[in-house]
Amino acid sequence: MKQLTKRQFRRYCDIVYSESGIKLNEQKRELLNARIGKRIRKLNVQADKYLSIVEKDPIELNLFLDAISTNHTYFFRESDSFKYLDQSCKNIWCAASSSGEEPYSLATYCLELGFTPSILATDISDSCLAKGRKGVYPKKCITNIPKNILRRYFQKGQGKWEGHVKVKQSVSKLITFEKFNLLKDSPSSRIFDIIFCRNVMIYFDKPTKEAVLHKLVRVLKPGGYFIIGGSESLSSLNHSLKYIEPSVYKCADLDAMPNMTPYRAG
Ligand SMILES: C[S@@+](CC[C@H](N)C(=O)[O-])C[C@H]1O[C@@H](n2cnc3c(N)ncnc32)[C@H](O)[C@@H]1O
Repeated sequence: MKQLTKRQFRRYCDIVYSESGIKLNEQKRELLNARIGKRIRKLNVQADKYLSIVEKDPIELNLFLDAISTNHTYFFRESDSFKYLDQSCKNIWCAASSSGEEPYSLATYCLELGFTPSILATDISDSCLAKGRKGVYPKKCITNIPKNILRRYFQKGQGKWEGHVKVKQSVSKLITFEKFNLLKDSPSSRIFDIIFCRNVMIYFDKPTKEAVLHKLVRVLKPGGYFIIGGSESLSSLNHSLKYIEPSVYKCADLDAMPNMTPYRAG
């Protein structure tokens, strides 16, 4: 495929930004070129024509966003922050859950602690959500899973699934995979005891990060933890969370708020 012109690249970037909040810079030109190349070849169209298809057709828009998103993840990634999980974490939201390794890691960790949470795993990518629901992973992906967890919560594939593992039903039944665009969608009224939103806000600019934070904090229980990725920080952003340690923030606890007196009707 021919290199995208500056103008085409800018138009693709504008769509990515307005639809997902992801800010692409000039260095991502080749990457974008390579990623959309497959779709362009498949549809046998030119880059300009593909742009107009993406702008008009919501199905192709989804496929386009799928093609350009970075879904890198792995089991038990940055698992130091899992220490904030305890019996009180009945409702967990794993926002930007990619292909499922993160929510499955959280679920098995909780099961090992002796409790069964309900985990909402969301992402913008349909193909990632499909992989997560399937719960089947090649063996090369499991190196980071502690041996006891692997033995207890995963099954070895046989026949055509040789070389793969599948998450057991005792784990998958704890997780609901749902599509949720952090930029565009509004959470339901469900309140979460802890929210993991890791390694996604890094792709957003400041106003988008603040809008996403505001949206997620509204459904975080007072006193609940908000966990971000190891290379992320909320320090320059406007938000109401309390810093605990790198990657870990806490929602203000109502009891701890100064100058509060009990509300009396009348
Ligand atoms: C690098 S992965 C991080 C996965 C996982 N949280 C982790 O830390 O390993 C980023 C994920 O964010 C998702 N994503 C990007 N923009 C999004 C948006 N606007 N709403 C929801 N998910 C988004 C991508 O599809 C991708 O799966």
